[in-house]
Amino acid sequence: MRADRFTGRVAVVTGAASGLGRATAQGLSREGARVLLFDRNAEGLAVTLRACPGAVAVQGDVTSAADQARLASEARRMGPVTLLATSAGTIGSTVPLTELAEEDWDRLFDINVKGTWLTLRAILPLLREAGGGAVVTFASAAGLTGSPALPAYSASKAAVVMMTRSLARVHAGEAIRLNCVCPGSIDTPMLEETFASATSPEARLQREAEFRARHPLGRFGEAGEVAASVLFLLSDDAAFTTGVALPVDGGRLA
Ligand SMILES: NC(=O)c1ccc[n+]([C@@H]2O[C@H](COP(=O)([O-])OP(=O)(O)OC[C@H]3O[C@@H](n4cnc5c(N)ncnc54)[C@H](O)[C@@H]3O)[C@@H](O)[C@H]2O)c1
Repeated sequence: MRADRFTGRVAVVTGAASGLGRATAQGLSREGARVLLFDRNAEGLAVTLRACPGAVAVQGDVTSAADQARLASEARRMGPVTLLATSAGTIGSTVPLTELAEEDWDRLFDINVKGTWLTLRAILPLLREAGGGAVVTFASAAGLTGSPALPAYSASKAAVVMMTRSLARVHAGEAIRLNCVCPGSIDTPMLEETFASATSPEARLQREAEFRARHPLGRFGEAGEVAASVLFLLSDDAAFTTGVALPVDGGRLA
């Protein structure tokens, strides 16, 4: 991987305390960016902070407009912000849609859809002030195709895809590019949570086998493999790419 694509740039990363957000923050830091880490999980944030020299951490909830305002003012203090990655998200409940509790539906959409919107609302003005920049939102392969196992999650990620693509058209004239990544099953705590919610050890093994079989490459992805695509989309290597929903999914959608 190149070592200098983000030298001197300031990047905001939500969901930075774990999984894909942490891998993205580490990649940006390795390539020279100063990273503002945002997450509700203080312990995880501290681990990421140690791995990203010069980074700053803000603990908060993406569903809170007040926390997002704190994030924006901290970001403004760090200097012109030109990069944003919105990885905070949740898998939600894995029960069938007909049994899903209303509060679980609301929580899922609050974090995945409203949380992404609130982050964009807070940080896009900073990119505009800086004269342009790049954003990567985190959708899912399940946001591009129906997911029998996770219909509500699938719907929430489809919303992220279309919000991103719409905003790509809105902000193109301001030199702000917006793209999203659509990962398949990636080996992170979220994937483990999906398997751990199985009703028995046998059901867990079956779910794991089903999820793995969806990927023609025959394995789950690694967080660094998604981060590599996020960094590409954030970098000038993708200067003529905006409004795409990029599957990073081991061929699941092929
Ligand atoms: N891992 C996968 O297989 C996979 C596949 C497709 C899409 N994704 C998406 O990628 C993103 C990252 O997933 P991951 O696998 O790294 O998950 P993860 O659970 O490892 O990390 C998610 C992070 O988001 C944070 N977060 C959750 N709700 C929050 C809130 N309300 N406010 C602030 N922070 C909050 C968590 O604390 C956590 O640190 C998510 O949006 C997820 O939906 C993951």
